[in-house]
Amino acid sequence: MSQPTPNPRHAKHRHVIWSGTGMAASDGAGVKLSRIIGQPALPDLDPFLMLDAFGSDDPTAYIAGFPSHPHRGFETVTYMLAGRMRHKDNKGHEGLLTPGAVQWMTAGRGIVHSEMPEQDQGLMKGFQLWVNLPAKDKMAAPRYQDIPPAQIPVVGLAPGVTAKVIAGELLGVRGPVDPPATEPVFLDLDLTGASDAELTLPGAHNAFAYVYDGALRIGPDRLATGMIGVLSLGEHLHLSAEETGAKLIVVAGKPLREPVAKYGPFVMNTEAELHQAVLDFRAGRF
Ligand code: CO
Repeated sequence: MSQPTPNPRHAKHRHVIWSGTGMAASDGAGVKLSRIIGQPALPDLDPFLMLDAFGSDDPTAYIAGFPSHPHRGFETVTYMLAGRMRHKDNKGHEGLLTPGAVQWMTAGRGIVHSEMPEQDQGLMKGFQLWVNLPAKDKMAAPRYQDIPPAQIPVVGLAPGVTAKVIAGELLGVRGPVDPPATEPVFLDLDLTGASDAELTLPGAHNAFAYVYDGALRIGPDRLATGMIGVLSLGEHLHLSAEETGAKLIVVAGKPLREPVAKYGPFVMNTEAELHQAVLDFRAGRF
């Protein structure tokens, strides 16, 4: 009798290859945030260009919001854990993100928008992730996917463990985001008490875990609140929460392996394309 040959990649468990915390930063009109990806210690993680976590119960830390600003060449993903954010752009599109909502915005060839908190007291908490677009999609028409919380499926992974599937697939359940070329997986996991979870991720995607509450272990590595763990390649991820439980996002994407030319809110492949982006923006062509 012959045994099937194990595929080493498929058998592989992901482990933490780098861990760290975000860097305190301020963006927009003075919104205080933690820059997790896109800081000197972790400049990028192809296809992810930036990850910010914002979270404050002090309105002065967020109320000025992100007034009118442009984007070209990538996607911005805003995921609200608490609080509300109103989005308006220069083409008349407008939407209100409520707690638990996601906006997956494909800037493509260009938008000019504002992202403004719509509350003057209470907690505001969430994430903004920048996902790069391949060269062939950088000048595509802008597109919005505004996803209310009710459209995000929740999967039970183990006793006391649930996962919201925002993008990608988990146990045959697909998230609502129509996937771009990077085929992203975006999960929000809640592990209650000292519980364990096993996930399957596309084996060749770059991936990270960011803990926003509690603490957990991935193999021998401990991630506490506010820590990111960049993961090795592999299909399996095993999480062990401590007594406090753990809440985290797990995000994975197919690396583009293309040259990246960045200037503020423009992310292209070459310096010439960046120069063109600045000219187009100044000439009102966004
Ligand atoms: Co923006």
